[in-house]
Amino acid sequence: MIIANEDDVTPAVLAAMNQADDPRVREVMAALVKHLHAFAREVKLTEDEWGIGVDFITRLGKKTTDTHNETILCSDAVGLSTMVCLMNNGKNGGTESASALLGPFWRMHSPETKSGGSIVRSPTPGPALFVDCEVKDAKGKPVVDAEIDVWHASTEGMYENQDDTQANMNLRGKFHTDKDGRFSFRTVLPAGYPVPVDGPVGQLLRAQNRHRFRPAHLHFLLNKSGFKTLITQIFVNGDQYLDSDVVFGVTPPLVGDYKLHTDGPAPAPDVNGEWYSLDAHFVMEPGNSKLPIPPIA
Ligand code: BEZ
Ligand code: FE
Repeated sequence: MIIANEDDVTPAVLAAMNQADDPRVREVMAALVKHLHAFAREVKLTEDEWGIGVDFITRLGKKTTDTHNETILCSDAVGLSTMVCLMNNGKNGGTESASALLGPFWRMHSPETKSGGSIVRSPTPGPALFVDCEVKDAKGKPVVDAEIDVWHASTEGMYENQDDTQANMNLRGKFHTDKDGRFSFRTVLPAGYPVPVDGPVGQLLRAQNRHRFRPAHLHFLLNKSGFKTLITQIFVNGDQYLDSDVVFGVTPPLVGDYKLHTDGPAPAPDVNGEWYSLDAHFVMEPGNSKLPIPPIA
């Protein structure tokens, strides 16, 4: 079809795309184009602004490497990751979800660690944290031999892949639940941290006068055949950024009860002074186990 004027564009594109064999490709792309064209009309997008948008997306790609994923960071910063997560988890969005966004820092192949072991693999400041976890199915039965990835940032606000001073895979570990569906590990209390702002996402946050912080949290990815893969985070109660997470990841069930201990013996003899404990309970739903595409290598 030859385009006579602005009004011809949307129907011409929809007709061309309707030739796709896959019905889901037809549905998703038709809705995307309708909304994209409607958006351009609504804001009366100028040619300069269109150019800035194209350049922004180009820079998301250029900034993304094996060790940094600016595109996921962008999806997170505009709330799309959390929206898709909440729509697809927790009884298909019918109840509050206990899932959370994956974030840009999950790595595959974290080191197998025995239950009770430590994920502190190089000297890392911060109070000791002892985490006890229990994984059950929807009927309350233990989920045995589930594989669980745990990862978090250092107290200085960096994941090991962002920071040459940390050992490879520091604060990352892979665990398996025992016959009671339990596993435990030792680490340091996570701190809130700034997301990277040296790329286009930082430029966006500054233009919108937004701060760059996430509240302190641990990440968990639970996987077992026959169960829907569970990706979640447990936030530190009382963190100052709980109600203003830069990536909108906090829902009430995700706030954990990290307990401060100031006296009494710690679970390890080398711990002096204050330490923390956390009991974490996970429920896995029946479904397909599927690992996400790793955001970084
Ligand atoms: C994170 O928690 O690792 C994270 C999530 C979204 C953006 C940046 C970092
Ligand atoms: Fe994180």
